[in-house]
Amino acid sequence: MTGMGPVYRRVMLKLSGEAFSGTSSFGIDPEVVNYIAEEIHGVHELGIQLAAVVGGGNIFRGLAASSRGMDRASADYMGMLATVINGLALQNSLEKLGVNTRVQTAIEMKEIAEPFIRRRAIRHLEKGRVVIFVGGTGNPYFTTDTAAALRAMEVGAEVILKATRVDGVYSADPLKVPDAVKFDELSYIDVLNRKLGVMDSTAISLCMDNSFPIVVFNLLEKGVLLRLMRGERVGTLVRGD
Ligand code: GTP
Repeated sequence: MTGMGPVYRRVMLKLSGEAFSGTSSFGIDPEVVNYIAEEIHGVHELGIQLAAVVGGGNIFRGLAASSRGMDRASADYMGMLATVINGLALQNSLEKLGVNTRVQTAIEMKEIAEPFIRRRAIRHLEKGRVVIFVGGTGNPYFTTDTAAALRAMEVGAEVILKATRVDGVYSADPLKVPDAVKFDELSYIDVLNRKLGVMDSTAISLCMDNSFPIVVFNLLEKGVLLRLMRGERVGTLVRGD
């Protein structure tokens, strides 16, 4: 497929917080963030409009903290703040590569970034800026996967690119179960019924109700985003029947 033009015009990249910590279990590994920025840079150079939603699990996990006794809403707000830190790290790496970016927050903190304004975000994308959405949906009890699905639809993206550490969705965790089978394609209902853990059920339901496709892929495979943009079958595609 090399040589073919991009098959997408506007995409939503979902980056988990864990992606930012690389091989360590906590914090931000600048080399990994630079690597992610380079991958995004490649896509940006093709003229594709790219928005990203970043998670915060490398810094703080609301759900984990609430299971240890913290009030769920308070813990989720702390998690939302963690996503802002990651978003600013990604912005820094992208701008060092000469990619114009805007960070928009779901919770206003004007001194740090723009507040989320849907029409403004779309305008930024049209002008070739990478828009990084942070702060989740701005509400506790929602994950950043749901924020990715919501923002993807709000800004008129065509697909959610869900970056993970494995090259798609498997019948079981391939890192633990050696004979786990990889799916090339799945329906939303399969994902929900088989509890495949692609994204949480709220995010999957939102995509299902709006027939919004998701591609699950391994961002650590160098050049994978470009291959995806050229229409190569990479990872697992989740869509309706
Ligand atoms: P255009 O209107 O398309 O030119 O977009 P723009 O983002 O360049 O316009 P603007 O002049 O509004 O913004 C200039 C810079 O200020 C950009 O880097 C924005 O991200 C930043 N900016 C705009 N609004 C806010 C805000 O509320 N808070 C913070 N921290 N930065 C902002």
